[in-house]
Amino acid sequence: KNHIDHATSNKLQQAISSKAFTAPIPSYQSLTDYLAGGGYQFYEQMKVGTLDPINVENKVFSAGLRGMGGAGFPSGKKWSFVRAESGPRYMAVNGDEGEPGTFKDRYYLETQPHLFLEGMLIAAQAVEAEHIYLYLRDEYPAALTILKREITELESANIVPIGYIELRRGAGAYICGEESAMIESIEGKRGLPRHRPPFVAQKGIFNQPTLVHNIETLYWVARICREGGEILTSVSKNGRTGLRSYSVSGRVNNPGVYLLPAGSTITDVIEAAGGMTQGHQLKAYQPGGPSSGILPASLSDVPLDFDTLQPHGSLIGSAAVLVLSDKDSIRDAALNMMEFFDHENCGQCTPCRVGCEKAVKLMREDRWDTSLLSELSSVMEDASICGLGQAAPNPIRLTIKHFPDEV
Ligand code: NAI
Ligand code: SF4
Repeated sequence: KNHIDHATSNKLQQAISSKAFTAPIPSYQSLTDYLAGGGYQFYEQMKVGTLDPINVENKVFSAGLRGMGGAGFPSGKKWSFVRAESGPRYMAVNGDEGEPGTFKDRYYLETQPHLFLEGMLIAAQAVEAEHIYLYLRDEYPAALTILKREITELESANIVPIGYIELRRGAGAYICGEESAMIESIEGKRGLPRHRPPFVAQKGIFNQPTLVHNIETLYWVARICREGGEILTSVSKNGRTGLRSYSVSGRVNNPGVYLLPAGSTITDVIEAAGGMTQGHQLKAYQPGGPSSGILPASLSDVPLDFDTLQPHGSLIGSAAVLVLSDKDSIRDAALNMMEFFDHENCGQCTPCRVGCEKAVKLMREDRWDTSLLSELSSVMEDASICGLGQAAPNPIRLTIKHFPDEV
């Protein structure tokens, strides 16, 4: 079926929702506590028209907020794109945090869900979204329980109309974090990325203009609105402005989420995470999930921010920092990343589907055929439909460049 209507899509979702995982619920900021601290006042002012959406958009834009899902698109700009289209308009929240090593959205949901929820409502109000679809990965059962509970609380407190926020559960496919695949999934279809243009701001859910934001981005929307843009603009380091939530894992003493200046280097990130595990020396690191590839320890002084890693053939993406040591094989790490892309690509386009499979075969050989792998990487980058296939060769290219002895 090419088109599934809203009612059918809801029925499908209800069938999925009858099966649920359970998890211990961490303690988090309740609605009562959030309201006591002035929570939802900003949103209420927008709702009654005391605050002009254009002013709010300018506030978010001038704070320099960028898309924290990983692409870094200026957040306020999206609002004007969506508002320029005629309604009905929708909002979709991307909570399908699937980039391996990324767990910052989960952290914010499980600690301060109302900051995220208010940010979401502010953004929805700014574009006059008629309905909000909140798409959450199913691997986050505690976050799912918290959101269900707190959305019901918001409805009971008459802060939002019943049914205005619709929670949708993903089903474990990495590709459903690609925004247009997520939209297909929300519509009840298989998560296949769409061609762009048109962008989702013009034709998103059920072909209507749709505002898509990541969870962390909306958390910052609320903080900027409530505390002022200075919380970001007043922080600068190494020529960069703002803050980044780094999800840190690998050979460090205290893996976790660390909020640091956007200009932080891998040295700063490791220090924040309690230093290297005893007996391990930094050899390499993945700055932003497998999509960013692997960089050598010699690039320890590069700020880990949007735009700063492009000259090195990498990207910060979702800031999922994986620290690798002298005890790790970079070649094995790169193969692991490529196996992940091979498993998770949707199979829709040949360069990515066949390219990932072929790359894995070549990378399992004793010696890599580096010229064939480089050629294959170029084809995948140039001809794949979506970001998965375009970024998948990054681990190959950077491993060949920085660790030629291993391949
Ligand atoms: P993109 O740069 O193509 O788009 C970013 C956003 O800007 C989208 O919402 C897009 O619709 C919008 N946009 C861009 N140009 C536009 C225009 N001219 N008009 C209207 N809207 C426009 O990046 P993409 O493919 O959405 O995301 C790639 C990033 O996602 C990578 O950096 C990757 O690291 C990250 N990622 C994050 C994951 C996570 O778990 N957080 C998982 C996988 C990838
Ligand atoms: Fe699917 Fe890969 Fe093509 Fe994206 S690039 S549409 S994941 S096959």
